[in-house]
Amino acid sequence: PANKKLLVLPGDGIGPEVMREVRRVVDWMDRRRHVSFSIEEGLVGGAAIDAEGHPCPDSTVEKALRADAVLFGSVGGPKWDSLPFENRPELGILRLRKDLGLFANLRPAIVWAPLAQASSLKADLVSGLDLMIVRESTGGIYFGEPRGIETLPNGMRRGYDTESYTEEEIARVARIAFELARKRQNKLTSVEKANVMQSGRFWREVVTSVGRSEFPEVELSHMYADNCAMQLASRPKQFDVILASNLFGDLLSDLAAAVTGSLGMLPSATLGAPDSSGRRHALYEPIHGSAPDIAGRGIANPCAQILSFAMLLRWSFGMEEDARLIENAVEKVLAGGLRTADIMVPGAARVGTSVMGEAVVRELDKIAA
Ligand code: NAD
Ligand code: IPM
Ligand code: MN
Repeated sequence: PANKKLLVLPGDGIGPEVMREVRRVVDWMDRRRHVSFSIEEGLVGGAAIDAEGHPCPDSTVEKALRADAVLFGSVGGPKWDSLPFENRPELGILRLRKDLGLFANLRPAIVWAPLAQASSLKADLVSGLDLMIVRESTGGIYFGEPRGIETLPNGMRRGYDTESYTEEEIARVARIAFELARKRQNKLTSVEKANVMQSGRFWREVVTSVGRSEFPEVELSHMYADNCAMQLASRPKQFDVILASNLFGDLLSDLAAAVTGSLGMLPSATLGAPDSSGRRHALYEPIHGSAPDIAGRGIANPCAQILSFAMLLRWSFGMEEDARLIENAVEKVLAGGLRTADIMVPGAARVGTSVMGEAVVRELDKIAA
C-alpha cells in the first residue's frame, strides 16, 4: 500500500550525509519493490536553531505527530555547545521522544559475521552475538525534577539532577522487554543499582512483579549496572535482552557498539504505546551522534542510518521481508570487504559514505534480481 508517511529529520554533522544514502535505499524500494513513501523533511537540532531559533520547533513536532514514522539523523556540534541548556541541539531529540511518548528505545547489538574481527574483543567472544538493549527513553535523570545549577546560601555552587521513575514508567518499558524476550531466548537481564539507589531498588521491585504476574515463563535476572558493563566487555554472549534506565541504557549501548565492531553500525527504534487501532508513534535513530570530528569529510559510515530504516520497515509497517533484504544487503557489502574508516580492521581498504551507500543499493539489486 502506498502513502506511508515518513518524516525525515537529518539534523546536524554527519546526519545529512548518512541520510542521503538512506534516500538511495528508499528510492530503490520505490523502483524495485513498488513501495512508495510520501516523505516530508523537517528541521531539528542545530539546523533548526540556525533557521528558526529553536532546536525542536513546534512545526517539527506537529509533522512528527502526523507522520507514520520518523527517521532521525543526529543532532549537536561544537557550533552550539556554548548555548544555554534550554536551547541546546540535543533538546531536539529529547523533546521528540517526550512529546511523542516514545518511552522504549530498542537498541539491537548484533555482530555481523564479516565484522567479528573488528570488535574490541577477541573474535570468538563476540561471533554470533545478538543482543537487544531496551532503554527507557522518556524518564529517569534525563527529565527528573528538580534539576539545575544554583548558588547556595553559603556561596557554594552546585549542579544537580534527579533520577525518578514511577511504577507505570517502569512497568510499561519492562513489558516491552519481556515481550521481546519471549520472542527471543526467553531471557531478560534487568539492570540498575539497587544496592545504592532508591529508584534502582524500586526498579527491581516493579520489574520483578511484572515478570511474576505477566511473564512467568521468561527467565528474569537482575544485575548491577557497573557489573553489567564489565560483563558486556568480557562475556557479552551471556545476554539476550537487557532492560535499563535512560542513563544506564545510553552508556551500555555505546559499550555494546564497541563490542560489535563500530558505533557506525548500530540502529535503534524508539517506540510509543500502540493506540486502540494498533497505531503507534515511532522514531528511528542511529545510536551514534553527529560526529563533529569527521563531519563534512564524506567518510561517515551510513550503515547505522540505513539499518535504522530497516527497523522502521519492520516495526512501523510490518515489512519484515523488506527489512531483511536491506540487512542482508548490508551484510553482503561487508562480506565483500568494504569498510568505512570507523570499522577497525587492520589493512582493510577504506571507502567513503557514498561508496558504501551505493554498494548497498547494488547488493539490493543483486539479491532482488
Ligand atoms: P558521536 O557518536 O557523535 O561520536 C563518537 C565517535 O564515533 C566519534 O569519533 C565519531 O567520529 C565516531 N562515529 C560516530 N558515528 C559514526 C559513523 N556513522 N561513522 C563513522 N564514525 C562515527 O558522539 P560524541 O562525539 O560524543 O557527540 C558528538 C555530538 O553528537 C554531541 O553534540 C552529542 O551531544 C551529539 N549526540 C547526538 C546523538 C543523537 O542525535 N542521537 C547521539 C549521540 C551524541
Ligand atoms: C543517544 C544520545 C542522546 C541521549 C543525546 C544526544 C540526548 O546520546 O541517543 O544515545 O543521551 O539519549
Ligand atoms: Mn548516547
